[in-house]
Amino acid sequence: MRVSAPRGTRDVLPPEGRLRRRVLDVAQERFAVYAFAPITTPTFEDTEVFVRGIGTSTDIVRKEMYTFTDLGGRSITLRPEGTAPVARAYVEHGMHKLPQPVKLWYVAPMFRYEAPQAGRYREHWQVGAEVLGSDDPLVDAEAIALLADLFARLEVPGVRLRVGSMDDPEARGEYRRRLLDYLEPYARDLPPEARERMTENPLRLFDSKDERVQAVMADAPKLLHALSPPAREHHERVLAALDRLDIVYEEDPILVRGLDYYTRTVFEFSCDRLGAQSGIGGGGRYDRLVEDLGGPPTPGVGFGAGVERICLALQAEGRPLPEEGPDCYLAVVDGDLRMRLLPLLAALRARGLRCESDLRGRGLKAMLRHADALGARRVVIIGPRDAEAGVATIRDMRTGEQDEVPLDRLVEHLVEVAR
Ligand code: HAM
Repeated sequence: MRVSAPRGTRDVLPPEGRLRRRVLDVAQERFAVYAFAPITTPTFEDTEVFVRGIGTSTDIVRKEMYTFTDLGGRSITLRPEGTAPVARAYVEHGMHKLPQPVKLWYVAPMFRYEAPQAGRYREHWQVGAEVLGSDDPLVDAEAIALLADLFARLEVPGVRLRVGSMDDPEARGEYRRRLLDYLEPYARDLPPEARERMTENPLRLFDSKDERVQAVMADAPKLLHALSPPAREHHERVLAALDRLDIVYEEDPILVRGLDYYTRTVFEFSCDRLGAQSGIGGGGRYDRLVEDLGGPPTPGVGFGAGVERICLALQAEGRPLPEEGPDCYLAVVDGDLRMRLLPLLAALRARGLRCESDLRGRGLKAMLRHADALGARRVVIIGPRDAEAGVATIRDMRTGEQDEVPLDRLVEHLVEVAR
C-alpha cells in the first residue's frame, strides 16, 4: 500500500525548495540588518503556554490545536504560533535583565488543525520577529517597516497593508459593552455560531464570512473610532512614523486578528494574487502577554509571515522558479581516472563551485545529456589521453564553445569564469 503525507501537509520539492530557500535567506539577512537576534524554541510546549497566551475564545485554542498527553501524563501542544513561546522563553530566561528592548527572530513550523485548502495547511512555516521591552510606537512602525521591506526585497506582487488598533483591554471592555448593546436587537436573527461568538468575543463578528452577520456589522460602532486617548495617540504616532518611511497603508477600523493577546496596534499584509487565503503576514502589539505568562509587566510587538503563502505569491502569474544548475560538471571518461581525479572534484568544491559529476558510470554522450538535463553551466571533459597530456576540455553549455585548459590551471580557471 502506498502511503502519503497527512492531509493538510505538503512536501516541498525542488525547484520550489530553492525559492523557499531564497525567501528564508532574504528574511534572515533583513532580520540581521534590523539588529534582530535568532531564537529557537521547542516545537511543542506545555499546553498552558498557548491557552494562557493566545486566549480561550480564539479558534486556535478552541478547535485547532494539536494537543496530546505525553507518556509522562503532561498535556503537550504542537506550536500553533510563535509569539507565546518567545514570551515564555523571555520570562523563563530572565531576559528582562538584558538591555531592552530584546529583538528576536525565528523561522519555525506551526501546526493548526484547520480545514485544508490552497494556501491553508495544517503545518505551515512562519518567519517572525518579536520586540520585547518597549512600548514606543516607533517600535510598532519598525516591525511593520521590516515586514514591508522583506516583501519589497522579495518582490512579492500585489501587497496591501492594513493597520488598526485594539486599544487597551480596559478600554476595550467598555467598547465591548457598547457593541453588545448595538447587537442585542439583532441577536435573535443571527446564526447560532455568531451568537456563540457574540458571548465569547463580539469583536470577532467583524471577521464573519456570513452575509447576514456582515450586514449587521456594517453599521456597528467601530473600535478604531472610539479609541481611548492614550491608544489614539499611540496609533497616530505609528501612522506618522509609517508616513515618514513612505510606507503605504490603509487604516482598517474592523481589523480583528485571530489571537486574543493583542493590545493597541494590529496590522496585516495581504496579497491580491492569493485568493481566499490572502494574508501573507500579520502581527501587532501585545503589552500584557509576558505578564499573562508569569513575567514582569513587559510590552511587546511583532509579526509572523507565512512562508508557503509568500512562495505561492512569488509563483503567481506563472513567474519562473529560480533555476540553479551546477557551475560545472566533471565528465571523466574512464573508471580508474575518475578515482584519480576525486581530489580535483574536492578542490573545485572547496573553492565554492557547485559541482556535479557522473555517479553511474555513464559514457561521454550520456554524461553530456546528464549535464544538460541538470542545467550545468560548463562541462569539464577529461579522457585518459587528456590526463596524460595534462589538459582538460571545457565546454560552455550555453554557447557550445570548447577550450583546452592545463589541468594544473583548471581550478583557478573555473573559479575565474564562474565569477
Ligand atoms: P497569524 O496571523 O495567525 O499570526 O499568522 C501569521 C501568518 O502565518 C499569516 O499571515 C499567514 O501568512 C500564515 N498562516 C497562518 N495560518 C496558516 C495556515 N494554516 N497555512 C498557511 N499559512 C498560514 C500569528 O501567528 C502571530 N504569532 C503573529 C505575531 C507575531 N503577532 C505578534 N507577533
